[in-house]
This record gives sequence, structure tokens and C-alpha cells, in this order.
Amino acid sequence: MTEYATLTLEGKTYQLPVITGTEGEKAIDISKLRQDTGYITMDIGFANTGSCKSDITFMDGEKGVLRYRGIPIEQLAEHSSFREVTYLLINGDLPTKKQLNRFSVLLNDQSLVHEDMQLFFQHYPRLSHPMGILSSMVTALKGFYPYLEDLEEEVNITVTRLISKIRTLAAMSYKISLGHKVVYPRPDLTYCENFLNMMFDSPVRPYKIEREVVKALSIFLILHADHEQNCSTSAVRVVGSGRVNLYAAISAGIAALWGRLHGGANQAVIEMLEGILKEGLTVEKVVEKAKDKNDPFRLMGFGHRVYKTYDPRAKIMKAMCDRLLAKLHIDDPLLDIANELEEIALSDDYFIEKNLYPNIDFYSGIVLRAIGIPTNMFTVMFAIGRLPGWISQWRESVDDPEWRISRPRQIYIGPTERNYLPVEERR
Ligand code: ACO
Repeated sequence: MTEYATLTLEGKTYQLPVITGTEGEKAIDISKLRQDTGYITMDIGFANTGSCKSDITFMDGEKGVLRYRGIPIEQLAEHSSFREVTYLLINGDLPTKKQLNRFSVLLNDQSLVHEDMQLFFQHYPRLSHPMGILSSMVTALKGFYPYLEDLEEEVNITVTRLISKIRTLAAMSYKISLGHKVVYPRPDLTYCENFLNMMFDSPVRPYKIEREVVKALSIFLILHADHEQNCSTSAVRVVGSGRVNLYAAISAGIAALWGRLHGGANQAVIEMLEGILKEGLTVEKVVEKAKDKNDPFRLMGFGHRVYKTYDPRAKIMKAMCDRLLAKLHIDDPLLDIANELEEIALSDDYFIEKNLYPNIDFYSGIVLRAIGIPTNMFTVMFAIGRLPGWISQWRESVDDPEWRISRPRQIYIGPTERNYLPVEERR
């Protein structure tokens, strides 16, 4: 039986249907609001607005729950691989052995990028941020594969092509930025092994693939794989709603992720910790600065729009970080500062009252440093991880029978009608 919310406006009553999700989440359906009442709703930053129905990811920010297609993130991080999670997100279920093997073959088949793409990299300004390069390169891929995308098989190939090539592109951009020879993908290596090898192998220092590092990278990518309607995923959906091709929609997602309040936070956290170390600041001073209303500084890696408790991904990341550093015998002073910062912030009234807890980015940078990833590539690593989420969300939106082009409204607060003045009459 449909439940209704009652709205009274200018003496008239309207019945608005209530939509309930499988986990009991509730929404008031206002899709006919303007048509029936002439009013729109106002929700800056969309904090109270549902933009779609989705069966991909469930998160409960109050309880710190995150599940992909119903499976808790903790189980996936412990038992699964990034390849398997990618399949799960995109196809809706865990693959059988046969399906997983087929998926691996497809990923391998698609791992090379066109040699001409090296020219793009070589002519990119040296100081460009890798996120800008990656976003352009993903759009450029469309030029190399300008085929149809509305056929099921073609979409499947486009999807595996993107998942596979993004890691080749990322590693290639790193090698070219160093002026080194590009390392090609190898069919005998897994997804994560291949990426590490393409990043770090060199004729003078052959790269030794360590099991612990591969596991850490796989967990890092799994933890980032989807996070429902966040800023970059919403960008993918909004851009995709204009029926743009998948490459362009993903490129928009990469651009959105670049921001320091979103995916760029992992780089910002390390820069903040390095700054504290270099300038010899006390952690107390940094916390005071973050609390100061007149100072724009924020504690990077703290706070989240949805989580009002500890980010479950941050918990897994922190445990993995401790394990990895111990296994690799790395003593990172930034980890000590991070631990101290976390302890002080978590017992401070400001952070307690505002429910500000460490998010995934607080510890992910330290993990990436330990793996050997340079700081300006951190957000690229996030993008590689988030790609399956973006693709599955794009696919869901394209197949949605209730789909409409994204086009919010506004309340205009500019001048009312006035006449054009010739330049001589203006003061
Ligand atoms: N340090 C200090 N104060 C903070 C922080 C922080 N990291 N985060 C939020 N606050 C304060 C705000 O100043 C605000 O205070 P006020 O109510 O007195 O004005 C209050 O907490 C609420 O903050 P909002 O910005 O309104 O929260 P919102 O949900 O819009 O923003 C965001 C969430 C962007 C993540 C914010 O917490 C932030 O800037 N964090 C630092 C950047 C970061 O770590 N981003 C990564 C997020 S996770 C991800 O994208 C992968």
C-alpha cells in the first residue's frame, strides 16, 4: 500500500507518495511538485535529494555500513580481488569461475593502448597534473575506438577496455613523466601485479612483485570501487544523462574526483602531514587552525557528507596500513603524526559535535607511499579504483526506464527586468 506525505501550501493540501528502499530508506516523491503546485524544492549541495533509485551500493552513514550489491565491504576486502569486485559491481553478481576467467582474458586482451597515444603524453606540458592528463586521455580513447556503444557486446568491450586501459594509461603517464621507457602489460600477471610492474619495472632495476604489496593495492582499489551518489559519480550520471558516450562521462568523473574536497583529499592529506613535519608544527596547533572559523584550513581526511561515524573503509585502510608498514619494515613519521592527529581530533568537542571522523583518505596516502606511488599520482589511483563504480552507475542510469536528462531548477535572485543602456549613458 502506498504511503503519502501531506504538504499544505497556500491553503491547499497535496499528497506526495513515499518511496521505500529495500533497507527501509525513505524518500518523498516530489517529481510532480512543480507541475501541481508551481513550487520547487531548494537543497544546496543536494544533501537531502535522491537523484535515482539504485541497486548497486548501500551505505548507512550513521551506522558506518557499506555494501556492494549487498555484500559487506569488510568481506570483499578480506576475501575478494579487485577484478572480482569490478565484475560484481558491473554485472550485479559475483562471477562463476568460468565468468571470472573470461573476464580476465578480456582484460588482458584490452590492456594495450594505441602507440599513437604516447605522442599525446610526450607533448603534454611537463607540469600538468596526472588527473588532468588522465581525464583528457580517457576522452581521447573515444577517438581511437569510435564504434557504436548501444549494442550490448560493444558496451561490454568498451567497459573492459576502459577498466584495463586506465591502468596502462596511468603507468604510461608516470613512466613518460620520468623520461623512462614505457613498460608493456604482461598477460601472465594479474590486474594489480601488472599495474605495479608497469609502474616500477625498469631495465636497471627489475621490479620484484611482493605478495603483500599486491594485496594492499587490491584492497585499496576494492575500498574505492563505489560509493553511491558522491560528487564524481553524480558528475558521471549528470553528464551521461545528456546521452554522451561512456568515455566522455568517465572523463567528467575523473575531473570531478580531482578536487581536494573529494578524491584530491588523499594527496592533500599527505601534503598536510608533510607540512606539519617540515614546519615542526604541533598537532594541537593544527587542530586549533582547523577549528578556527576565520581560517579556511580544514583537517584533510576528516569529515564526510554521509558518514557521521567512522568511515568503515578508513578502519580497513588503517589496519592494512599498519600491516603493510610492518611487513615492509617501513617506519613512516607521517603515520605517527596521522595517529596523533586522529587521537586529538577524536577527543576534541568541535570534531565530536560535528561528527567529524577520519575518512578513507586519511590513511590511504600512507599506504600508497609505502607501495611507492608518487604523491601527485594518488588521486589517479583513486580514479582507477572508482572506475567500476562509475561504469556500473552509468550503465544503470542508461538502462533506467524512469531516466530523464539531469536539469535542476533554480531560484533567480538577480535584477528584475531593466533596459539596455548605450555605453555613453553608463556610469
Ligand atoms: N576540518 C574542520 N572542520 C570541518 C571539516 C574538516 N575536515 N569538515 C567539516 N568541517 C566543519 C565545517 O566547517 C562545518 O562547520 P559549521 O557547521 O560550523 O559551518 C561542518 O563541519 C559541516 O561541514 P560541511 O562542509 O557543511 O559538510 P559537508 O558534508 O558539506 O562536507 C566534506 C563534507 C567536503 C568531506 C568536508 O568534511 C571536508 O571538507 N573534509 C575535508 C576534505 C576531505 O577529507 N575530503 C574527502 C572526503 S571523502 C571522499 O571524497 C573520498
